[in-house]
Amino acid sequence: MPERSSLEDLWPAWCRRVDDYLERNLPLPEGQPGQLHTAMRYSSIGAGKRFRAALVYAAGTSLGAAEAALDVPACAVELVHAFSLVHDDLPAMDDDNLRRGKPTCHRAFDEATAILAGDALQTQAFEILASGLELSVTPSERLEMLALLARTSGAAGLAGGQAIDLQATTVDASLDTVERMHALKTGSLIRASVSLGALAASASAEILTTLDQFAQNLGLAYQVIDDVLDGTVDTPILGKDSGSDRDADKPTYLSILGEHDARQFAGKLHHSARQILTGAPFDTQLLLALARFTIERSH
Ligand code: IPE
Ligand code: IPE
Ligand code: MG
Ligand code: MG
Ligand code: MG
Repeated sequence: MPERSSLEDLWPAWCRRVDDYLERNLPLPEGQPGQLHTAMRYSSIGAGKRFRAALVYAAGTSLGAAEAALDVPACAVELVHAFSLVHDDLPAMDDDNLRRGKPTCHRAFDEATAILAGDALQTQAFEILASGLELSVTPSERLEMLALLARTSGAAGLAGGQAIDLQATTVDASLDTVERMHALKTGSLIRASVSLGALAASASAEILTTLDQFAQNLGLAYQVIDDVLDGTVDTPILGKDSGSDRDADKPTYLSILGEHDARQFAGKLHHSARQILTGAPFDTQLLLALARFTIERSH
């Protein structure tokens, strides 16, 4: 039997694929308007864990898709993610100064440029997904992928979750509200990443349903741990401003449950995610390794 590659070997290569693809497909800094192009590249190339891209590659390759075909959805989700971070850091939202170990986009450039860079990164995601030739699916499958990414980014997903986040305060937010907020602002794109990888491999409806149940648990766990890390890890390791949630009086799993119970909850979600994949009719080792990373990560 051929030896299976481990996540440890594959993930760095996936990061390089994403950077290479974005290098080739984002507008050039020499083009006009140069500052916008530079800001888009600054916020999307060369950093970030690429967890969402890794989910696309893991789901897709486990179901038989080629890595080259998966570059398209992997970069699309990373572009939506990059856009969401640029806007999330703005003074009108979390007002943060550091992202991925360097000044946030509005600090490195200016607020108006950061708003436009976010806008353009988001639309670039859809352009790539609509026209990337490496993705070999039928037109109707591609349309399904586009609709999924659109739903994920909008009021029923990321934007909706961010809206709840802006309204919530530690005084009046219940755990139910925080769970819904997390499921939308972070869980939705993580779910979409797994689904897009599977759709690129033309997975059956049954497999898509199983994977989505897996990803729901993973998506929530990912943000629960993000909350814990925000309040317990130092800025240089995080690469973003530590204690930002506490300073902004944000309700989080850490503020409501404390570190021990929040980690325990994430552990339960991880356990459920593992259970869901038990007996699945494909090789689940990469997705299970990513699930473990979700709760064991240190930044
Ligand atoms: C940060 O996501 C924001 C969340 C939605 C939790 P990541 O921790 O995956 O950020 P990068 O991409 O590695 O910078
Ligand atoms: C961000 O949540 C979610 C989105 C960007 C959609 P956070 O505000 O917790 O993310 P960080 O901690 O700034 O990365
Ligand atoms: Mg935020
Ligand atoms: Mg933030
Ligand atoms: Mg956070």
